[in-house]
Amino acid sequence: MARYAYVDGRYTAHQDAAVHVEDRGFQFSDGVYEVVARVDGAFIDMEPHLDRLERSLASLEISAPMSRRALSMVMSELVTRNGVRNGLIYIQITRGTAPRDHAFPANISPTLVMTTKRVDYFKQKKIMAGCKVITTPDIRWARCDIKTVSLLPNCMAKTEARRADADEAWLYDAAGDVTEGTSCNAWIVTHDDRLITRGVTDNILRGVTRETMIALASELSLTFEERPFSVAEAKAAREAFSTSATSLVTPVVQIDDTILGNGAPGLFTSRIQERYFDYCRQNGCRQNECRQNGAQA
Ligand code: PDD
Repeated sequence: MARYAYVDGRYTAHQDAAVHVEDRGFQFSDGVYEVVARVDGAFIDMEPHLDRLERSLASLEISAPMSRRALSMVMSELVTRNGVRNGLIYIQITRGTAPRDHAFPANISPTLVMTTKRVDYFKQKKIMAGCKVITTPDIRWARCDIKTVSLLPNCMAKTEARRADADEAWLYDAAGDVTEGTSCNAWIVTHDDRLITRGVTDNILRGVTRETMIALASELSLTFEERPFSVAEAKAAREAFSTSATSLVTPVVQIDDTILGNGAPGLFTSRIQERYFDYCRQNGCRQNECRQNGAQA
């Protein structure tokens, strides 16, 4: 367990970190969050993550608890205190604490919580050897573009996946098209060398990793298409993978009972993954403040 959490202005022992029982995040899931990966001592794509955090806050009329510069200073301080060179930082902002009432109360201060987790990405079996996903109906609300802490349908689908001995669930809409994973964006590579991911609308999250992948993929010999694809098309695909801050680029080698290719990460996915890892490592070299501050691997 990490040593410290940041809660409303204090670096608190993680085991004692707490918010008020009337916090609206607890009462109503009235809050948003971000997850930023840290690789080799640098935050990956911090600015786009903070852009999205600001968009999520604005969508729900929650005020920012502090400036972006202050937020990034707290992020750096917390990973340094917790010695996180490789891992994740979770930033959660709720509307704040107020007597219970469904309507948004006026003039309350938002609650800001940050926690960290160490992850050794390049040793994770599912990232390196590929993972199994199940498919299940997408029962979430119509504003999945907002990164809200209201994640119950995602938790239900992920639990269904775990019970089926899988790592992730890909969700599908009423048309049978894959929307995204419970905590990742979904991609396929077709037999005619097309790289496909669903276009961004209100029913998926605009993944930061997804946006970076789109930019990096233009360097590879694949035709990129942003369009819906069905569960059937995914199962017939040559390769598949997921992207997110927590999974980086994770090959998908099985969808429900269908094994893709020979059951190992495909050629294109491995190349895309390696390109993304390089991107992370280069970012790591450029903004190496954590290493300079003496954080441990
Ligand atoms: N999840 N779609 C959903 C529903 C997500 O929750 C996430 C991220 C993504 C990928 O977004 P990004 O590439 O910006 O991480 C797509 C985070 C990691 C989580 O909930 O833990």
